[in-house]
Amino acid sequence: MVATFKNYQDLSAFAANKIIRLVKHKKNAVLCLAAGDTPALTYHLVVETAKREAISFSEIIFTGLDEWVGIGPDIPGSCYHFLQQKIFGPLGIKKTQIHFFNSMATDLQQECNRINTIIQTVRGIDLALVGIGLNGHVGFNEPGIDPAGNAHVVTLDEVTSIVGQKYFKTNTALSKGITLGMAQIMQAREVLLLANGAKKAAIIRRTLKEDISNAVPAGFITTHPNGWILLDEEAAAEL
Ligand code: PGA
Repeated sequence: MVATFKNYQDLSAFAANKIIRLVKHKKNAVLCLAAGDTPALTYHLVVETAKREAISFSEIIFTGLDEWVGIGPDIPGSCYHFLQQKIFGPLGIKKTQIHFFNSMATDLQQECNRINTIIQTVRGIDLALVGIGLNGHVGFNEPGIDPAGNAHVVTLDEVTSIVGQKYFKTNTALSKGITLGMAQIMQAREVLLLANGAKKAAIIRRTLKEDISNAVPAGFITTHPNGWILLDEEAAAEL
């Protein structure tokens, strides 16, 4: 389903409401949340509502979506740091509730296996909230990926390495990522893909108008039975 909202605020409120409704109905739900500029307001609204309505997240399980290889969790710009600041910290989420990629691990393949096992053990993701890269990536599932893949280490697309600089205060070498695979995202019981702003208009047009293929990984989400493409008017401008 594609839904277009008047602005970023309305889009974020819709996504936040979906998270809040799920958490109210399933107290041990498994959430897979993306880092990035796009979901920042959604998380702010989730935190605000959870505090106002005293909604407990104490049994919610969080899985990581992706991380920059070699960028530790304490470094501003890492996906973990972002989520810690925006949602884990403000909601008082315990470390035991969070299953995130350790992108500093010496054996990254083993780290992928560890996360794959966790996702199986928790019986899959209830809700995955993802953004879309300017190249159509989801997590670090870059153009050309195997859509049947699970967690894997990836050489980042040039676009991702360049655009990713926006998260860091100083120039940072970003060459590899570790990510859930497209198959794991597609197996989530519900997927929300959010896009806002004029800079996303061209890739949203490709996502929704081109034949679905791994050239634009986000396109796969349009085939998910509970997949939502949530846009503001600027991101939807070329449809
Ligand atoms: P953004 O990143 O939310 O910062 O635009 C999206 C993405 O690369 O998936």
